[in-house]
Amino acid sequence: MIVTTAQLFKHAYGKYAVGAYNINNAEQAMGLFKGCIDSKAPFIIQISKGARKYTDKRMLEAIIRSAGEIFPDAIFAVHLDHGDEQTCYECIDSGFFSSVMIDASHDPFDENVAITKRVVDKAHAKGISVEAELGMLGGVEEDIKVEEGNACLTDPVEAEDFVKKTGCDSLACAIGTSHGAFKFKGKQSLHFDVLEKIKARLPGFPLVMHGSSSVPQDEVARINAAGGQIAGSMGVDVNEYLPAAKRGVTKVNIDTDGRLVWTRVHREFFRDKPAEFDFRPPGKIFIEEYAKFIASRNKLLGSAGQLDDLRASLKK
Ligand code: G3H
Ligand code: 13P
Ligand code: ZN
Repeated sequence: MIVTTAQLFKHAYGKYAVGAYNINNAEQAMGLFKGCIDSKAPFIIQISKGARKYTDKRMLEAIIRSAGEIFPDAIFAVHLDHGDEQTCYECIDSGFFSSVMIDASHDPFDENVAITKRVVDKAHAKGISVEAELGMLGGVEEDIKVEEGNACLTDPVEAEDFVKKTGCDSLACAIGTSHGAFKFKGKQSLHFDVLEKIKARLPGFPLVMHGSSSVPQDEVARINAAGGQIAGSMGVDVNEYLPAAKRGVTKVNIDTDGRLVWTRVHREFFRDKPAEFDFRPPGKIFIEEYAKFIASRNKLLGSAGQLDDLRASLKK
């Protein structure tokens, strides 16, 4: 069942974080739904601009609708990840999305406010909520690469002002993470001090943590043992997910980790079976492994086991 992102946030705020997982194809969708049902967790499916281009946006929509039928107990929202203004409008008009993200974080503050406000006005007129971003994460997003030195943490005073001026429904904050598999060069830790200051200024307001993959080192080691060459990777400490959730982080974005699961499964499969060329056997293994990964993340986020209570609260 597709619900609004606001309904998911209302149930989760301050208690647990909802996992927001990117999908690009049917195998990822099957693994995601299975993992969330196995762990009894609500979730957010997110689609990036790149994913919309990869197959075709209509294909992704069909995959998600079908997965919802195959797993009728699933409760989830559908979200546009890192949208520009035009893509936000397309998704708002499509009638399929629960929420959109307008990412104008690379623009100056006033420009970010103006763009976000335009999207909020259009989205709210259709009952769709809007995630905006303030501050700048390091790493690679679509075609934009931000070097670590240019990344900047969200200013709590600006965050309060930004939310008041735009009327956005949730805010992606830069608190030390970055996109991709190379998040920290030195100390691995979130900036809880910044998060606490933002929460103090925006009590009850859902915050979003992008770049939340943990980049499991055993996964990377298996990839490298099967021919990969990933060096110097580091992700978020999974033990920091719940402390972040208690400080207002209500949505945790994970994409890179799923790509690592895919790469490990396929590299190992074809290393061990070099004469194989049917893609379905490794595809099947990937679905199972991804489901296990998703269930493990939902446990760490605290969203595992929340499905029945959420369902009951939605009926009230
Ligand atoms: O933030 C970026 C997400 O991981 C989506 O990645 O733009 O390569 O689909 P993508
Ligand atoms: P990761 O690269 O850490 O998976 O972050 C994904 C993300 O923030 C999607 O918006
Ligand atoms: Zn992101």
